Amino acid sequence: SSPHRIAVVPGDGIGREVTTAALRVLDAVTAAHGIALQYVSLDWSCERYKREGAMMPADGIDRLRDFDAVFLGAVGAPGVPDHISLWGLLIPVRRAFQQYVNLRPVRLFEGVRSPLRETAEGVDLVVVRENTEGEYSEIGGRIHRGFPQEAAIQEAVFTRTGVSRVVDAAFEIAKRRRNYVTSATKSNGIVHTMPFWDEVVAERAAAHGGVRWDQEHIDALCAKVVLQPGRFDVIVASNLFGDILSDLTAAVTGSIGIAPSANLNPEREFPSMFEPVHGSAPDIAGRGIANPVGAIWSAALMLDHLGHPEVGEQIVAAIAAVFAQTSLRTPDLGGKATTAEFTQALVDRL
Ligand code: NAD
Ligand code: IPM
Ligand code: MN
Repeated sequence: SSPHRIAVVPGDGIGREVTTAALRVLDAVTAAHGIALQYVSLDWSCERYKREGAMMPADGIDRLRDFDAVFLGAVGAPGVPDHISLWGLLIPVRRAFQQYVNLRPVRLFEGVRSPLRETAEGVDLVVVRENTEGEYSEIGGRIHRGFPQEAAIQEAVFTRTGVSRVVDAAFEIAKRRRNYVTSATKSNGIVHTMPFWDEVVAERAAAHGGVRWDQEHIDALCAKVVLQPGRFDVIVASNLFGDILSDLTAAVTGSIGIAPSANLNPEREFPSMFEPVHGSAPDIAGRGIANPVGAIWSAALMLDHLGHPEVGEQIVAAIAAVFAQTSLRTPDLGGKATTAEFTQALVDRL
């Protein structure tokens, strides 16, 4: 069969290091299964911005359009304001390609220590984050800069179509898991958007009979994720709530370095993008100690999306095996292993 064409954007900081690791694992596993991946590496990054004044070329989105997937490390570097790096690359890709489902699974692997005392019940949940609208809208701005009346305004935009489609996706995902959806909300009358979110969720839930569901206020939900993480299956959340929850759920299962994400365009009209949940971590960049698991698991999600779910599963099983059977851990998990050592152990297992 013809090769899958992958646009690889390592980006900045540890994004580059974990991408190298993930490609090593991908190469090992695809070679073994006769799957052909063709990578086109793109140097779109803060370095490029410093050199050429833009994170990506003016026709960057068009250049990505014909790929089967985009594999991203992370963007963001000291000296370049985050709004430049994010609005210059990450956010436009998610929106232009209608990647409205941001899938962020976590799992407490055997052998990995959670910072929580009580996790005997195990943790295996997925945050389904709305990824194109909500609190992250373009509408807003800053006025009267430098004056006492200076103000910043941000409009949150929730559309019926936008909420319905991500909620439908969450229910479909739950049907393939433990049949349980929790909607993250803030409906206690303060925020105008959330009662609307709740209405749409209730309406869509009725169309997915047989799936148990409930809703929790985001503040209380954060507490429950810490106190009883094993209780959750699928959590559907708005863009901002889902962003915050997914670092929390990652930390609860050991480290934000472990968590993967798939930015999916379910209709497959456009390429989907795969990237770890974490950022470019300037505080540890260049030292070779980043946890590569988030990126490697993201690569597994990409294989799943490309029609090779069993190969993706094999990667996750290898991650689980290295955690269960060795004491190799990167420093974020309390160990001394380097990115390369951990990756090598995975490759050996595959
Ligand atoms: P971050 O995720 O980069 O780092 C937060 C903390 O977690 C840091 O202490 C870091 O060392 C640690 N950490 C993160 N990933 C790790 C890994 N794989 N292994 C070990 N430790 C890890 O978040 P931040 O500090 O808020 O942001 C840093 C930069 O990254 C900013 O410029 C931000 O805008 C950007 N960012 C980009 C993305 C993306 O490209 N998708 C996501 C989040 C943040
Ligand atoms: C993430 C990141 C991004 C987000 C930032 C860097 C814009 O935190 O992918 O989780 O909030 O979506
Ligand atoms: Mn985030």
